[in-house]
Amino acid sequence: MYLEQDIIDQIQQNNDIVDVINEYIPLTKKGANYVCICPFHSDTNPSLTVSRSKQLFKCFACGEGGNVVSFVRKYDGLSFQEALKVLADRSGIALPENYSSEFSKEKRDYKERLIACNTEAARYYYASLRSPRGEKGLEYFKKRKLSDETMRQFGLGYASIDGAECINYLKSQGFTDKEIIDSGLGVYDEKKGLRSKFWNRVMFPIKNLGGKVIAFGGRVLGDGEPKYLNSQETQVFNKSNNLYAFDIVRNCRKDHFILCEGYMDVIALHQAGFNNATASLGTAFTPGQANIIKRYVKDVYLSYDSDGPGVKAAIRAAKICREFGLSCKVIDMNPYKDPDEFIKNLGAAEYKKRIDEAKNAFIFEIGTIRKQYDLNDPDANTRYAEEVAMLLSDFKDEVTRTNYIRACAKEMGVSEDALSKLVSQAASSGRKYNVSTEPKSGIHSDDKKEDGKTRVEQIMLTYLSEYPALYPQIKNILSPEDFVDETNRAIAEKLFMDMDNGIVNPASIVNMFEDAERQSKVTDSFTTYINGLSDNSDVETAVVDIIYQIKNNAMENMKNSGKPINPTAFMKMKKELMEIKKIKIKLPK
Ligand code: UTP
Ligand code: MN
Repeated sequence: MYLEQDIIDQIQQNNDIVDVINEYIPLTKKGANYVCICPFHSDTNPSLTVSRSKQLFKCFACGEGGNVVSFVRKYDGLSFQEALKVLADRSGIALPENYSSEFSKEKRDYKERLIACNTEAARYYYASLRSPRGEKGLEYFKKRKLSDETMRQFGLGYASIDGAECINYLKSQGFTDKEIIDSGLGVYDEKKGLRSKFWNRVMFPIKNLGGKVIAFGGRVLGDGEPKYLNSQETQVFNKSNNLYAFDIVRNCRKDHFILCEGYMDVIALHQAGFNNATASLGTAFTPGQANIIKRYVKDVYLSYDSDGPGVKAAIRAAKICREFGLSCKVIDMNPYKDPDEFIKNLGAAEYKKRIDEAKNAFIFEIGTIRKQYDLNDPDANTRYAEEVAMLLSDFKDEVTRTNYIRACAKEMGVSEDALSKLVSQAASSGRKYNVSTEPKSGIHSDDKKEDGKTRVEQIMLTYLSEYPALYPQIKNILSPEDFVDETNRAIAEKLFMDMDNGIVNPASIVNMFEDAERQSKVTDSFTTYINGLSDNSDVETAVVDIIYQIKNNAMENMKNSGKPINPTAFMKMKKELMEIKKIKIKLPK
């Protein structure tokens, strides 16, 4: 069972979006709205607009948008229900018990306990590092050239040889054995009972997107196995949906991120001034992580180890990035092993140079393939070209594929045409996409047409929500059924019904849809304006035109639907359509 819509609305009404966002990022008033720098992509301009009357936010640069719940959800990386809980707590609203089995109060509270347990452990390890028993740990970090400030920033700590110390401390703070085990800090031993998972290791706290400690990586002080011991996945630690130091990186205000393999690499880079470095968490880079990154930047620079496994891992990560539309470059760390060693030896300025020289990851990949062939042998040369062509055929988008074919042909010293043919062959042998030059343009323009239809509907809904005085004047002309786009139709149904009752609450309508993507689209339907309309009389004229277009699209859809048409109804619609242009809309001055 989910929360009743009216409780959701109540939570929303008690959490004014302007106040809530202002607690995360300071807002500035601009006209009727508020603006700030968008936290969901890297920017220096205030592109995020917050509307108090609509209780919605919208970034006109990256497209992110939604109501107060969507904001908290995105900002803190929470689920819909978790975000509701945060806001309910903020405004002192009690949620009914067990409204969702997946998200019962018990389960939520338990997760909070596990985070509290990890946070408490982080404090303990942090203090240990700076106490006499942590001397070895401190020495280790100093040897690795970390400054006090860096150790503080990353909350680095030390788990002493006597693991029982930390366990006892956690118990003294009221955590149960089960909580200590479930938080990933303790393991149960048949003979010895509850034992600490981490001992005699320097500790790297791992935080979630909201900056709360959810896990640890612990490194041995010298040589030893395993080099890094990580918390196992728990109810609060999902390795594929978090990134190291991301609570810092998300606010770095750069247009690209640097992706590394190791915690120490990230830390060394931050210390050298690259506050946009992040890493996966003891596993290979995952699609979930690409999905997170995509919300902030379009460009990723890989700073992986220069050895064989590092190169392989970089190529795999680049592939995942590409699948998520991220453009990816590879930073050459040679002759050093990893960014940490590179910085230590050559410094930040040289690293910056390497960033500037970074190669497109795909070109980098074909470079590694080339090394496997003896290019003096014509047959090997052909096989090399075929292998590259096979990879190129993976690009489904024609424009991208063509661009890559061009770049690779140049890199390989073959003609673009010849490579292009090989790619077509590779594609048809693998049936990857339709190579025949179908009348693709037709499909394309249809897509555009659909986009255009959706857009006029969004404009209509936006102006309606902005100027409620429009509603009584249009409600006998335009009806929700006229909306061609399914989402817009659902929105119109609710909005029209609300307006009949004298209510305008776009933020509540956003809540009718649970998945984030849909919510963002719904927000678009309340924040799509026609540029250049300067006053109400412009809007009056524009609205007539918009209604005409919506009606016209509806008729066109009816004709194309293939369903039998009632001729009388159709004639009536046609007649109505002719009349629309004559309508006079009046807005209060
Ligand atoms: P590396 O072996 O490249 O280590 O592992 P590193 O980052 O250079 O570490 P230092 O400089 O020797 O301290 C990279 C990452 O792989 C994971 C960790 O996340 C580590 O940061 N890893 C490595 C493990 O989880 N377990 C291991 O035993 C080794
Ligand atoms: Mn290293």
